[in-house]
Amino acid sequence: MNIPTKKLSCGFEMPVYGLGTWEMGGRKEADPNNDDKADIEAIKYAIDSGITHIDTAENYANGHSEELVGEAIKGYDRNKLFIVSKVGRTKLKHDDLIKSAKESLQRIGTNYLDLFLIHAPSLEIPIEESMLAMNELYDEGLIKNVGVSNFTVERFIEAQKYSKAKIVANQLHLNLKYRETEKKGLIRFCQENDVMFIAWRPVQKGIILDSNIQIINEMCEKYRKTPSQIAINWLINQKNIVTLSKTRNKSHLDENLGAIGWEIEKSDIEKLRNEFPNQEDLSDAVPLV
Ligand SMILES: NC(=O)c1ccc[n+]([C@@H]2O[C@H](COP(=O)([O-])OP(=O)(O)OC[C@H]3O[C@@H](n4cnc5c(N)ncnc54)[C@H](OP(=O)(O)O)[C@@H]3O)[C@@H](O)[C@H]2O)c1
Repeated sequence: MNIPTKKLSCGFEMPVYGLGTWEMGGRKEADPNNDDKADIEAIKYAIDSGITHIDTAENYANGHSEELVGEAIKGYDRNKLFIVSKVGRTKLKHDDLIKSAKESLQRIGTNYLDLFLIHAPSLEIPIEESMLAMNELYDEGLIKNVGVSNFTVERFIEAQKYSKAKIVANQLHLNLKYRETEKKGLIRFCQENDVMFIAWRPVQKGIILDSNIQIINEMCEKYRKTPSQIAINWLINQKNIVTLSKTRNKSHLDENLGAIGWEIEKSDIEKLRNEFPNQEDLSDAVPLV
């Protein structure tokens, strides 16, 4: 399947849907009991199914997730892939950040990242120092695009002041249930400032897929789609929003890809926004600071 892309006015372009790798290879640390082979197979299956955007981070399984991505992409045309990694919030001093980026490249087995994100803001390290390091990586061509993650509007504006390149993306928690980033003006900010909003955790680890949610059932019936397809389509049919989910299950991936290529009516996007039950105003995983 050919996955459509979204393109910003500045020229930055990325697929509307990608594969996440949190919990591949372990959680915070590499898990010796993890079925690495299954994770590698899942990534390859995703690429064979048309996925090009693969998201990882040095913090996922302490770098092991990046190694699994590296193993999986061997034999594929690197230029056709859109690989994203992230530097952790404790590695944002200049030299640490450069070192982290280079180690990520090595683990993934590539000489550039399509997009490199600061995983979350540091409350101690001045953003100016981190952005100077990002500038160097960008100038050297080691990262093709500069982005951030879990940044408020204020922190994003501050980071942009020191970034040579336009900061093209902010990766943020957003789905039908978790709306902190929407409430804090980040959807509107990204839409008005030509920034890609990469929504993480689109199906909220399955919570949204509960078949007892009446409005989801109504939408599934109306569009002849499944709950995950409604949840993902709700995101990607909003301006400047793309998303990614993690799955190592082939049928879940096939199902999620069925979220692409059709559109929930605008009125239903708003209906879901307003009427989805038990919404949470704060992220349960990475609240904005
Ligand atoms: N920047 C950040 O701070 C940040 C934070 C969190 C996540 N992320 C990134 O965003 C990616 C996506 O978020 P996430 O992995 O936390 O959450 P998610 O993609 O919303 O949910 C993943 C979970 O849902 C299951 N799942 C996926 N599709 C399904 C389907 N159709 N039916 C039933 N279950 C399904 C998966 O299990 P199976 O494997 O069994 O399918 C997995 O347990 C991450 O992997 C990571 O790359 C970034």
